[in-house]
Amino acid sequence: MLIRTTASSFDSPVSSEITPQDIYHARRDLMKLVATGAAGVTLASWAGRRAFAQTIQKPGKLAVLPAGKSAVAGAMTLEKITDYKDATSYNNYYEFGTDKADPAKNAHTLVTKPWSVVVEGLVKQPKTYTLEDLIKLSPQEERIYRHRCVEGWSMVIPWVGYSLAELIKKVEPLGSAKYVEFVTLADPKTMPFVGSRVLDWPYVEALRLDEAMNPLALLAFGMYGEVLPNQNGAPVRLVVPWKYGFKSGKSIVKIRFTDKEPRTAWNKAAAQEYGFYSNVNPTVDHPRWSQATERRIGEDGLFAKKRKTLMFNGYEAQVGQLYAGMDLKKLF
Ligand code: MTE
Repeated sequence: MLIRTTASSFDSPVSSEITPQDIYHARRDLMKLVATGAAGVTLASWAGRRAFAQTIQKPGKLAVLPAGKSAVAGAMTLEKITDYKDATSYNNYYEFGTDKADPAKNAHTLVTKPWSVVVEGLVKQPKTYTLEDLIKLSPQEERIYRHRCVEGWSMVIPWVGYSLAELIKKVEPLGSAKYVEFVTLADPKTMPFVGSRVLDWPYVEALRLDEAMNPLALLAFGMYGEVLPNQNGAPVRLVVPWKYGFKSGKSIVKIRFTDKEPRTAWNKAAAQEYGFYSNVNPTVDHPRWSQATERRIGEDGLFAKKRKTLMFNGYEAQVGQLYAGMDLKKLF
């Protein structure tokens, strides 16, 4: 994602290209040793990232979440699962800082107990759910999803949760409800970057109601068989595997049903770069870089090739019909 330096300036580097200083220097030394060109850069970035991952401690023992394998179509890719250490030390969670390393370093201040989620707006059964009630609403499943970030990297993560549709059915949307908005926590006392001008807080994301009802859209409470670490969006987040990662709001506190397309955090920050839909689409470039390929985290060894990005991140069979007849170059 981009870092906003002034209200109207978006010319900062992509945050995935920003490297912690010590690693930057180690990388620079390494780069002096290797020939310039793609192989050198790949080796250097691999070395830097490994060095950083080693510095991250696994947060104490997290509670185990019992979950059966999912029977939802497309929910269990057989691709190699990303290392836990990578998935929990290379994050985007701007409330805790804009560097990939910041959430793992800073998110220990997030207070996840007690937690509740308000469900409101155009529904017959508005309700405030305690986290405990929300967890019990439907049986937990494990879903192994590809996770593709708009910045051009991807992972494969075993999430634990249940389809968001289960909650939506319980609250009975009115006929007039067309969109679902997800509001996430913005607590300046526990989140050091809330109040910074990087984004307009709270971080808000949204889906069309039919997208939210697709069984692949997951309300996640855990990953790798354990409750979510704070940096990954504890205690409850969304995972929408056919969209760029920023559509998957972390640490959700409110779910609101509306009849108008909600304004979302990155769309507000740079509408020409981050559309409402943000479906993974290799044929629609970001205005400043291609989306045709991706770097799979953990595969960035010396000669690893970038992977081709798949339409809808490989979930076209499950979600393609949601967008039938739409011009996806305009409605990106
Ligand atoms: N949710 C909140 N509240 N704040 C954020 O900064 N970042 C988004 C998304 N959800 C973000 C968020 C982005 S840009 C991505 S790519 C994913 O979370 C990253 O999820 P991960 O760190 O678990 O890989």
